[in-house]
Amino acid sequence: MTDNWGGEQAMRKLEPGKLVIASHNAGKVREIAELLGPYGIEPVSAGTLGLPEPEETGTTFIANAELKALAAADLSGLPALADDSGLVVEALNGDPGIYSARWAGPDKDFNLAMKLVWDALTAKGPDAGHDAHFICALALAWPDGHVEAFEGRVDGTIVWPPRGGNGFGYDPVFQPLGHDISFGEMEPAAKHKMSHRADAFAKLVQAAL
Ligand code: IMP
Repeated sequence: MTDNWGGEQAMRKLEPGKLVIASHNAGKVREIAELLGPYGIEPVSAGTLGLPEPEETGTTFIANAELKALAAADLSGLPALADDSGLVVEALNGDPGIYSARWAGPDKDFNLAMKLVWDALTAKGPDAGHDAHFICALALAWPDGHVEAFEGRVDGTIVWPPRGGNGFGYDPVFQPLGHDISFGEMEPAAKHKMSHRADAFAKLVQAAL
């Protein structure tokens, strides 16, 4: 990051202590707690504090992560971490993108969401490429309104039919580059080493801890 004078500006560091995890998803909170525990960070979930979930009105992953982190930091008076992630399919102009969760409908039916992605790709014709990537944006915000954001990415291709019962969401139709199995067929530890989330967390740990 550069300042107004063209010089490098130091990123703000996260001090040991309480950190609000701006998510109401217990699995996500547990995963983040495990990742940050070794750094003396004490995660507190937004659900435990009774914080409301703000509407995701941003048009990018980073904007949505930032608005969730800023709202939680402002309401709690503590630093807060939020994430936003999704599947980006190049031939679909980036869809489902920030709407990845919504494509699964109110019943969170990812068999439906995967089918919608495949049908949309098929409708593009036989020459449409299957390139895709997952993005994970992480935002760290402080009660004074300061915010830092980190973006992680993993590249791959859309495969059909869905393969494997591991992971979640779109994992069975995503095959990472350089591998011949989908995220759905991969051991969780192998996925966690190369995922968009791992990439974003590595950047956060390097810059803010
Ligand atoms: P959110 O970040 O909680 O808004 O959710 C984004 C959506 O993107 C999830 O519901 C999943 O459908 C999808 N997604 C994000 N990360 C992954 C992943 O690692 N595997 C499969 N689907 C994912």
